[in-house]
Amino acid sequence: MSDFIVFPKPAADFHVHVRDGDMMRTVVPTIKQGGVSLAYIMPNLIPPVTTVLAAQEYRARLESVDSSVTFATTLYLSPEVTPDTIQQAKKAGISGVKVYPAGVTTNSDHGVSSYASFYPTFAAMEEADMVLNLHGECPSSDHINVLNAEEEFLPTLKDLHFRFPKLRIVLEHCTSAAAIAAVRECGPTVAATITAHHLFLTIDEVTGNSYNFCKPVAKFPSDRKALLEAATSGESKFFFGSDSAPHPIANKQKGQGAAAGVFTQSHSLAYVAEAFDLAGKLDKLQDFVSNFGREFYKITEDQPTFQVTLVKEDNIIPNTVTNGDIVVVPFKAGEKLHWKVIVKDL
Ligand code: DOR
Ligand code: ZN
Repeated sequence: MSDFIVFPKPAADFHVHVRDGDMMRTVVPTIKQGGVSLAYIMPNLIPPVTTVLAAQEYRARLESVDSSVTFATTLYLSPEVTPDTIQQAKKAGISGVKVYPAGVTTNSDHGVSSYASFYPTFAAMEEADMVLNLHGECPSSDHINVLNAEEEFLPTLKDLHFRFPKLRIVLEHCTSAAAIAAVRECGPTVAATITAHHLFLTIDEVTGNSYNFCKPVAKFPSDRKALLEAATSGESKFFFGSDSAPHPIANKQKGQGAAAGVFTQSHSLAYVAEAFDLAGKLDKLQDFVSNFGREFYKITEDQPTFQVTLVKEDNIIPNTVTNGDIVVVPFKAGEKLHWKVIVKDL
């Protein structure tokens, strides 16, 4: 492999948190900087994005910060998201609906406790060919904890796929070998996103380091290996979704109760390139970060206004991404990567 890679199209990131207000204005410019021109934006704002109008207004705010990125939007599943809403959403160009099981992660208080009441909504989505994004964890209970919450969710994935076989479903941010196996067992309408940080982390690096803490948490070395194998396998079911989730530094520094989320947006493509290079699989990179997700989602995009080249060059991750009062600590802060993204406006 040569020491640079020119991308015919910039990368696409199918799981992005950028928030709103000052945090949004800080983070949105780092999407392009990370090498990405299509970003699928998560709806867990406060309050969550549950209406078509709220999604349209949010998209307009995002575009006002960076018009060179295509922002795809998804609604936060709540009782307001009815079959009627789905029809309007389809017309408004909204791509999907995200399920947050109640209480499992950041801003999931308004999330779902029972799926059956949403079957008519899922049926309408299947009919409209929209995408269901699943945060695949069960809430903690006597027998469920952060280490088995994803595996315990997998029967729900299979049940939804069985009931709605044509509904396109994405199991978001897979962290376990069991999740990878379950996605493989499902038909072609079920896919999965894999983050950059889960290609590196295991539970040992999360313990004692709140900057590596996210939901679902990183699991065992055998799980990390399964994720890397899936991402580099060339199977179109597995594609990139960074789950980059910025939190103000103060919320990450709390010992007990630190916010869940790893921020990778500013260097997203470089982290993935590093992991693929270490695995000797750079030849599979473009499909994973650029082609497979686009194919699955069928989103219409304008011509990219910038070109992305990955260059093999030392790349020290800064200690912070700062904008006035907003300070966010990126993944692997202070560490060296061996790939750098060069962005050229066309
Ligand atoms: O770690 C996470 N952070 N996981 C999620 O699902 C949500 C995200 C956030 O919004 O901060
Ligand atoms: Zn997320």
